Amino acid sequence: MAVHPLERRWAWIATLMLVAMIVLVAYTAVVMKIHPPSNVETIDSTRLHLTSEFAEDNLGVKRGDDGAVVARIVMARYMVHPPEITLPAGVPIVIRAASPDVLHGLHVAGTNIGTQVVPGYVAQVHTTIHFEDVAKVGIANADGSVTVPIYCNEYCGLGHQSMWGRVKVTRR
Ligand code: CUA
Repeated sequence: MAVHPLERRWAWIATLMLVAMIVLVAYTAVVMKIHPPSNVETIDSTRLHLTSEFAEDNLGVKRGDDGAVVARIVMARYMVHPPEITLPAGVPIVIRAASPDVLHGLHVAGTNIGTQVVPGYVAQVHTTIHFEDVAKVGIANADGSVTVPIYCNEYCGLGHQSMWGRVKVTRR
């Protein structure tokens, strides 16, 4: 069966595009270390505020037993709880987030912190914040720290656009 030259050309172009995209994905994953969040850990979203790790008193930034900085955040229509957290730059941190209602997105400007917060699951991000990066997009405070916003970046209802919080990043 003869293949029309035009069809053959487009088959090559489509193949090249596919190869280019696979190379791009591999490059961002291996060199730029951009990975999709992959934490599979379930939680009872209907009882978040009562019994679990995400009860009100546990929210915010704590040092774990191993000295790691852990921030626990509840993303709920249409607020981020707590509304402001303080995180150190230059050290490994863990963000753990949960939703009691619908799907939200958690993005911190100037960082690579970006994950969906799916009800029923704990969203977890391991990263290190680079002070120079947040300094480019944030607001400088008198004490030398920088404040950047946390945005909800998944449409979650009529109040979605006003759902945001703050991260105060301190220099190490
Ligand atoms: Cu929460 Cu959009």
